[in-house]
Amino acid sequence: MRVVIQDDYDKMSIWAANYIADKINAHKEDKAFVLGLPTGSSPIGVYRELIRKNKAGELSFANVVTFNMDEYVGLAKDHDQSYWYFMHDNFFDHLVDMKPENINILNGLAEDPEAECAKYEEKIVSYGGIDLFMGGIGVDGHLAFNEPFTPLTSRTGLRDLTTDTRIVNSRFFLGDMETVPKKALSVGIGTVMDSKEVLILISGHNKARALAATVEGGVSQKWTCSALQMHNGAIIACDEKACGELTVDTYKYFLDVEKKERI
Ligand code: GLP
Repeated sequence: MRVVIQDDYDKMSIWAANYIADKINAHKEDKAFVLGLPTGSSPIGVYRELIRKNKAGELSFANVVTFNMDEYVGLAKDHDQSYWYFMHDNFFDHLVDMKPENINILNGLAEDPEAECAKYEEKIVSYGGIDLFMGGIGVDGHLAFNEPFTPLTSRTGLRDLTTDTRIVNSRFFLGDMETVPKKALSVGIGTVMDSKEVLILISGHNKARALAATVEGGVSQKWTCSALQMHNGAIIACDEKACGELTVDTYKYFLDVEKKERI
């Protein structure tokens, strides 16, 4: 696992956006580049920079297919807190050459959620798998909506959200936890682990415990993000504030080996 520590959120975002852009630009295969994407506050800066590069002609999305991590159950696409809405509002609508037919987001209103999820897994496979999955994590270490104690081999499926997650996410629902959906559709930890590369953004003091669990704790279903220790191409891009719970030697180790990557 690589851990790339940047000074602050903005530098972390630029670093991650550069990494993604370099991968897309270097992709020479006939098939599309398949990119997994998250919602939340963590990726906003990355999306901003990817949009800038796209508008400046430095990066094309014409040959990119995207799969989002998750979606709330029960919210229509046009609900301003659906992840479909978030992704269009914060990213897709601003790109000059993203093809709508290349955007994949789980349907939170699907009549048969399990069938919807099975179809999603099949579609990922039909594109040859995900080349790079960008993600964020929750304060309890949940990856996509794989809450603590979700099996680390899980596939895309229906998930119950914990009270903790609903309280944290209520900041987007005018602080009213009761209006936060209780269920979501989410890719599984196994789905993320099948990606060729995984790039996780971890920023801010409130993610410090989750970062330490991801990097230093044992692999445990309690912190589903810790499964990434078993991935051959996992990168954590984080900021200084998120490093508060790392041991000094871990912190120094990654600063030492990643020195050239600091911007
Ligand atoms: C939600 C999403 C996750 C996301 C997490 C962190 O629960 N389902 O995919 O990673 O929030 O969000 P933020 O980046 O806003 O801290």
